Amino acid sequence: MNNYFSVLPEIESNSYRDHLLNEFIPEYSSHLKKTYGYFAQEHLTPKLLELQEVLFQYDFPPIEYFLVFRHAVDQSIHIDGRSFVRYASLNLVLDGYEGTRMNYYDIINDIRNRADAQYFSSTNVRFRESFDPSPNWTLVNSGVPHNIVGINPLIPRKTLGIRFIGNPTYEELALKVQKKWAAE
Ligand SMILES: [Fe+2]
Repeated sequence: MNNYFSVLPEIESNSYRDHLLNEFIPEYSSHLKKTYGYFAQEHLTPKLLELQEVLFQYDFPPIEYFLVFRHAVDQSIHIDGRSFVRYASLNLVLDGYEGTRMNYYDIINDIRNRADAQYFSSTNVRFRESFDPSPNWTLVNSGVPHNIVGINPLIPRKTLGIRFIGNPTYEELALKVQKKWAAE
């Protein structure tokens, strides 16, 4: 099992990408805000309920909320979450992902600067691994230091991140994915 990410090519992505861009991206008229949060209770469209049903087949918990990110510059190295760590995210890149990479790091000195996430100085981590985020659904470990680099400022990178009730770890969810694959 990969420690950082699992690509799920068997879940259809193009129709979800179109839906999300149409439904949630028009709010990006302002360039001031980089993250938009949507609680599942109020914002799960029929299309996203359909996705949740697919994820139930993997024995995933219900969706708690989802975020749409818009990044025009490379991210600083961070762990997701402010007061507590958000361990796992199911991501779909929506736009501006060509040429971008997701880097993962090991912690050398655990000194965190807490803001909208828990940030690390580059001197306190060591580069571990990099991957090219495919345009497929990808389960990512958001509980270890990571960042997105290679962003073209002219084509901001837009990403959806889904978070699940109970804040399951990446390992828990990746194991569920593996079990489903093994059963097929
Ligand atoms: Fe992150």
